[in-house]
Amino acid sequence: MTTRPTQRPNRPHFSSGPCAKRPGWNTQALDAALVGRSHRAAPAKARIQEVSDRSRAILGLPEDWRLGLVPASDTGAVEMILWSVLGARGVDMLAWESFGSGWVADVAKQLQIKDHRLLEADYGQLPDLSSVDFSRDVVFTWNGTTSGVRVPDADWIAGDREGLTICDATSAAFAMDLAWDKLDAVTWSWQKVLGGEAGHGMLALSPRAVERLESYTPLWPMPKIFRITKAGKLNQSIFEGSTINTPSMLCVEDAIDGLSWAESVGGLEGLIARSKANLAAVEAWVGDSAWAAFLAEDPATRSSTSICLKITDEWAHERDAKQVAATVKAAARRLDSEGIAFDIGSYRDAPAGLRLWGGATVETSDLEALLPWLDWAWSEAKSDATG
Ligand SMILES: Cc1ncc(COP(=O)(O)O)c(C=O)c1O
Repeated sequence: MTTRPTQRPNRPHFSSGPCAKRPGWNTQALDAALVGRSHRAAPAKARIQEVSDRSRAILGLPEDWRLGLVPASDTGAVEMILWSVLGARGVDMLAWESFGSGWVADVAKQLQIKDHRLLEADYGQLPDLSSVDFSRDVVFTWNGTTSGVRVPDADWIAGDREGLTICDATSAAFAMDLAWDKLDAVTWSWQKVLGGEAGHGMLALSPRAVERLESYTPLWPMPKIFRITKAGKLNQSIFEGSTINTPSMLCVEDAIDGLSWAESVGGLEGLIARSKANLAAVEAWVGDSAWAAFLAEDPATRSSTSICLKITDEWAHERDAKQVAATVKAAARRLDSEGIAFDIGSYRDAPAGLRLWGGATVETSDLEALLPWLDWAWSEAKSDATG
């Protein structure tokens, strides 16, 4: 049996979304929120615009890109762009975990785009990136949140592409370098690396994406919530502090708080360093572990945000998959009820295991304090399962 550790993490928040608030957050961060005001009033629009401006500055978004606030979180942002630009040419869909597969379902079953090609891989792997055809549109997730597998870089993306690259970057933005020159539409939500609230999405568009929006009209009807063009032109107001429908000014205030904190830790560089340090802490522990390993097979593809672990214990080799899954769930439940770690079970569609959020708002010292508890909880759960 493993002895019960004594040092507890200061914060047990290791969920992969919504993610931990920034260190020191409390509701005073929202004191200046423009609640009870119209979101179309000048000061409210200025607050929304501030989210865009400060996000742009931190992320190093090129001057000629547009950045707007859209409804329905990251899903809203991704679907808005898929519905608005796809169908003009064939599309390559890359999927290696459940969110990427969700976008495949949108394209194949909902939009029913006949000329789509699937480039898929199992949990833990990436599809063959060298076979992507950039004369077509390409849809991919920068960081697969449910497998902990990310693209290692953007070297595989053609600089002189004809199609558009559409990238769901929700669990990568603010924690990984995004190669803007290789991307055309990029989405994220506030509830991930900066620990903001869900419900609002960010959509960033390159000049080429805008060109597509203004030169192509899809065949299908467009719900109001997805309309980014007006009379064939980009609806500029969405990129200048206006929104399609009503946002929460509380959430907007919270997003500004997250951005201020991001600036205070050194901007993008500081955020990336914090996330990398979190991955390094888990890597050191995995290196000595007799029962857990990274789900990501290639170290270059290991996510520093959604850190996914699989069970490699010899004990598990002699058990059926259901029993192993039940045991790892029991371990996660125990840590939850002890107040040591919340929400660290692997995603419902992913292989049995654990998922630790290592985004910038998580303190490395908290992850370090958690790791011995994982050993303890696994050992307890195994012994309960063995009887
Ligand atoms: C890669 C990815 N895409 C999309 C989503 C959905 O995000 P939201 O719930 O903000 O719409 C998530 C949420 O975890 C995600 O990780």
